[in-house]
Amino acid sequence: METRAAVLVEAGRDAPYAGSVPVEVATLELAPPGPGELLVKVGAAGLCHSDLSVINGSRVRPLPMALGHEAAGEVVAAGEGAEFEPGDHVVLAFVPACGSCERCVGGRPALCGPGAKANGAGTLLGGGMRFTAADGSRPFHHLGVSAFSEYTVVSDKSAVKVDPDLPYEIAALFGCAVLTGAGAAFYSADVKPGDSVAVFGLGGVGLAALLAAKAAGAARVVAVDVVASKRELAGRLGATDVVEGGAGAVDAVRELTGGGAEKVIDTTGVVPVLEQSYAATRPGGTTVTVGLPAPGVPLSLPALSLVAEERTLKGSYLGSSVPRRDVPRFIDLYRAGNLPVDALLSHRLTLDEINAGFDRLHEGEAVRQVVTFG
Ligand SMILES: NC(=O)c1ccc[n+]([C@@H]2O[C@H](COP(=O)([O-])OP(=O)(O)OC[C@H]3O[C@@H](n4cnc5c(N)ncnc54)[C@H](O)[C@@H]3O)[C@@H](O)[C@H]2O)c1
Ligand SMILES: [Zn+2]
Ligand SMILES: [Zn+2]
Repeated sequence: METRAAVLVEAGRDAPYAGSVPVEVATLELAPPGPGELLVKVGAAGLCHSDLSVINGSRVRPLPMALGHEAAGEVVAAGEGAEFEPGDHVVLAFVPACGSCERCVGGRPALCGPGAKANGAGTLLGGGMRFTAADGSRPFHHLGVSAFSEYTVVSDKSAVKVDPDLPYEIAALFGCAVLTGAGAAFYSADVKPGDSVAVFGLGGVGLAALLAAKAAGAARVVAVDVVASKRELAGRLGATDVVEGGAGAVDAVRELTGGGAEKVIDTTGVVPVLEQSYAATRPGGTTVTVGLPAPGVPLSLPALSLVAEERTLKGSYLGSSVPRRDVPRFIDLYRAGNLPVDALLSHRLTLDEINAGFDRLHEGEAVRQVVTFG
């Protein structure tokens, strides 16, 4: 069948992307779902900084690539033996979890070995690609999802079934921003009632972390960003304090939290900000990093402090979550009013507006934008 999809044709073009058009919308041929795969009619797909990092070249991926890794839609056809049926609504998570590798069996599906291998290769979990362009080229899949497309084919291991009454534009956010940000606060940082927490970076992921820290009972949540409108939104979402990002942020967080926050979550993807996050963590505390900097950028920390101050520095991928458990769990929290992630949704776009959407993300003018499909 045919589908209109957004394909990154070249990384590293100059912004503004509305002018340089690194992402081209084209009609592609989409193969039917193979065994264990689903054909999904996409309802909404979010723009994440991880897409932008592929566009600007800081995350190197095979090209051309059909982007978009945070989405929700409806199953319209299921391959042989697939877990879901036509009519099911699904959220797509960006790590397919095979369910049988050592890490999946060990309860850490975000680190699935075959899932990581397929994602790195730009293929589906079952191998190979399902899109073909008019010129015969074969766009790669982005993180097994490729949802900036009217239709996509995914492994059923990328999908989580959700209630059909949840609007797609909200459901989509759970596939990356919420799993990642809320998981980072609940699981990686293990925020406890009464904790002091600081969040550096208030995009979709950081604000989801802030909301989850509040839901977990943090007494103090300090929100740090260089963009004033992000700080204002964080204040409306319950941050107890807001701090302007930059050189003075560490001292400000330390002062507000009596010597550093117990848990600090960095979602900027900027290595010097991770260093600030570590410095803004109190002795005995935990620094969690979620941001994905360009590979090869070294991190510099005073090594002695790790030991003498019993600090913990943790990476968090997909929020250390278990998508099949946590998408329904986090949706329940949302429905109960305890995780108001609809506040992350700042813009709705058509597929043809996607380059302008990435300009807005690049400029810090958007939180979560979603492409919606009529
Ligand atoms: N670990 C994972 O599983 C995972 C999943 C999704 C996204 N990510 C990564 O997380 C990061 C955040 O993603 P996002 O979509 O929320 O991005 P975003 O661009 O929406 O948010 C990043 C925020 O950081 C702020 N920022 C930049 N420099 C800063 C500074 N010096 N001090 C304070 N704040 C600063 C920006 O203003 C922006 O608000 C990206 O690096 C993305 O690739 C990781
Ligand atoms: Zn993402
Ligand atoms: Zn696995």
